[in-house]
Amino acid sequence: ETKIIKIDKKQMNKSMIQEAGDILKKGGLVAFPTETVYGLGADALNEEAAAKIYAAKGRPSDNPLIVHITHMEALDKIARDVPPAAVKIADRHWPGPLTMIFQKKDIVPYGTTGGLETVAVRMPSHEIAREVINAGGGFIAAPSANTSGRPSPTTAQHVEEDMDGRIEMIVDGGPVEIGVESTILDMTVEPPMILRPGAVTEEMLRELIGEVAVDHTLITSDSNKAPKAPGMKYRHYAPAAELAVIEGPVEKLAEEINRLAAARQAEGYKVGIIGTEETVSGYTSGDVKSIGTREDESTIASRLYAVLREFDDDGVDYIYSESFATGGIGSAIMNRLLKAAGHHVINIQ
Ligand code: TXA
Ligand code: MG
Repeated sequence: ETKIIKIDKKQMNKSMIQEAGDILKKGGLVAFPTETVYGLGADALNEEAAAKIYAAKGRPSDNPLIVHITHMEALDKIARDVPPAAVKIADRHWPGPLTMIFQKKDIVPYGTTGGLETVAVRMPSHEIAREVINAGGGFIAAPSANTSGRPSPTTAQHVEEDMDGRIEMIVDGGPVEIGVESTILDMTVEPPMILRPGAVTEEMLRELIGEVAVDHTLITSDSNKAPKAPGMKYRHYAPAAELAVIEGPVEKLAEEINRLAAARQAEGYKVGIIGTEETVSGYTSGDVKSIGTREDESTIASRLYAVLREFDDDGVDYIYSESFATGGIGSAIMNRLLKAAGHHVINIQ
């Protein structure tokens, strides 16, 4: 049985946090909210505990985990050769939605790093995450708390759907704020390279440290090249329906999507449409959902995974989605959307 406890971050119940921490210290699994998505936590320094994460998620064992910490002294215990640029970035963006990759120290088991000599480290800002990490011993491996291949969870209910009966506890801290996973920056190469776009953007990192490379397999549909973050090669975040992303001028999207949707409906299929506040009124049929407003793309990031899960619940066969501008958080949105679509893009120009 999975125990679900509700915690208010403004009035944290210490004995509940302690209970979560005790489970982690004994090698068990606890899901908890972070500012990005819900994480599925285990003691990162305990190889058997880390192995349980792979089993609960159905995750391939070569896909490494991120180690979550709450202060800089903890970084020294698990990472070697931390360059000055990383300290500068940490000063600005930790705690926050950023993961950095370093050479690992021996204390970090290969079961946590998927056999790699490097370790991914993140210092989250969410108060509940920080309390749980500290109570659990200070080094908590936490992938997104979804079944491997499903959209990442942004509420405790999403976690329950995927993990009920598979883990000891879910800490319900309400919906998360950002809604897409952290930016991953590889600090073991020169210049540092973005392996996964997130809320800490390429622009912000450039402004801070100058040159930053981007793993270009991320946003292009070039599927011949293997991404450098092992997890990015899997068709992730996927809804059950077939998803296509429509690219072209915003004012033409609804017209084209209406045409595509009508054709599928004529064949007897159930169709879902991902629109925005600005465009939803232009759709004439189908299960239409607004994902947020183009005026503030953070609203789109925060609803993206929930919308994909809602379409799973509705049992639609095809989903047609509008595309969004890249740049800023838009790069993360398009990266996740294109991955969910298996890079199925329809270009209308
Ligand atoms: O926002 C987040 O980062 C969330 C929350 C829970 O903190 N966690 C998360 O973890 O997204 P996960 O496991 O779903 O994604 C981790 C990604 C995978 O794509 C993995 O391949 C990559 O990080 N990764 C981890 N360690 C790595 C390493 N040493 N080298 C390259 N990529 C690594
Ligand atoms: Mg994940």
